[in-house]
Amino acid sequence: MKVTFPKSFFWGAASSATQAEGRVTGDEKGGNIWDYASKEYNHRFYDGVTTENTSLFYQDYQQDIQKMQDISFNSFRTSISWSRLIPNGTGAVNPEAVIFYNNMIDELIAKGVEPFVNLYHFDMPMALQEIGGFEAKAVVDAYKQYAKTCFELFGDRVRYWFTFNEPMIPAEAGYLHDRHYPYVVDFKRAAAVLHNIILAHCEAVKVYREMKLAGKIGIIMDVIPVYPRSQNAADLYAAEMADLFYTKSVNDAILKGKYPVRLKEVLQEYDQLPEVSNSDLELIAATKIDLLGINYYRPRRVKAKECVPNPNGVFSPEWFFDEYVMPGRRMNTSRGIEIYPKGIYDIAKKIQTEYDNIDWFVSENGIGIEGEEAFIEEGVVQDEYRIDFLKEHLTYLHQAMEEGSNCLGYHMWTFVDCWSWGNAYKNRYGFYRLDLATGEKTVKKSGLWFKALVENNGFE
Ligand code: BG6
Repeated sequence: MKVTFPKSFFWGAASSATQAEGRVTGDEKGGNIWDYASKEYNHRFYDGVTTENTSLFYQDYQQDIQKMQDISFNSFRTSISWSRLIPNGTGAVNPEAVIFYNNMIDELIAKGVEPFVNLYHFDMPMALQEIGGFEAKAVVDAYKQYAKTCFELFGDRVRYWFTFNEPMIPAEAGYLHDRHYPYVVDFKRAAAVLHNIILAHCEAVKVYREMKLAGKIGIIMDVIPVYPRSQNAADLYAAEMADLFYTKSVNDAILKGKYPVRLKEVLQEYDQLPEVSNSDLELIAATKIDLLGINYYRPRRVKAKECVPNPNGVFSPEWFFDEYVMPGRRMNTSRGIEIYPKGIYDIAKKIQTEYDNIDWFVSENGIGIEGEEAFIEEGVVQDEYRIDFLKEHLTYLHQAMEEGSNCLGYHMWTFVDCWSWGNAYKNRYGFYRLDLATGEKTVKKSGLWFKALVENNGFE
């Protein structure tokens, strides 16, 4: 059987500035929280690799874009580094960065690769983190100005804009779960950060509309579909709460224009409600996006709590559910997450039924594998597991599209093995392998498979 996708389908991959660009002398880039944390908290990064090196997209962009064309990408998402473009977060624009982003965008277009440009991929300029990061309203204003600058500089050519990648993550990982700098553990502060990120998103969309540019603007979300252990009422409640905190909180605000009533009730009950004004709520209600990106990696399986949480402990969504380790689940052991291809179908159905069947695309999906060098034969990584992963996910995606889901494309994470937040280069995700010693980028078997997929608009 052939699985066939529409002719206009977007095929490509996603990446991000901080994970790929690297630094070169004279680039005039300002520091961001990752430049800082990967040095100052170096022990938190696998093998102590910092942001300095990454995969050198800044200097190799021409060859890299050629490599994208070589495997028939018709689109590619990356982000603009705020601290490269505006080193202090506000104020003067860095001319070197303008040259780089102009060249990069022009090169993509020249090679027939549609640029999808994201404004924020976890990388707060250090100067703005020092005044509170997204806890500070001044930073929301700075973000709005930064977005406007990007639209002014590049909006004549970039037709697909995204305000944030995974808006929940900077709040959850940076202010509650001790994974991202500034390593704060405080739910109420995390909630304030998330609220301000949502406001920043709304402000950027508003500016974009006011500028009457011809393109589309949206946001990239990570939706983790929630599955209860059983149909027992206690398990169902656990699933409802996990979904409320981690998905509905942000999805409803952005896609339905309002926070869930239930969320407000719970946060009020536990005295965790951040400050939210009526004008904030009006702005959220008035903001509509054109295109939604969904990053999908894994399901979230939950069960009822086994123990009562410590009432003096740190409030968190995990007060309402426990992770459920399902017997026989299929694991990606390198990353420690479950592989569940049907999740992509379930997300598509959810968008169709609960979020007005908005236009969307898979903005990230992928499999990070440790020790991929073990699969090298005759110089090529024989990553059959990645091809199988792609086929399974695409088959489910295709099924949802047959049932009416408005999915417009599929981007894999990622183009070439890149640096990651914490895991650095431990797990490899790319269609191209990066040799850390030489900087050489070599296509993997999956990259060649992807090329055939794009050229045939599907696979057998
Ligand atoms: C996504 C992020 O959530 O997951 C990427 O948008 C990230 O930036 C990717 O690299 C893979 O996760 P990790 O932690 O394995 O790199």
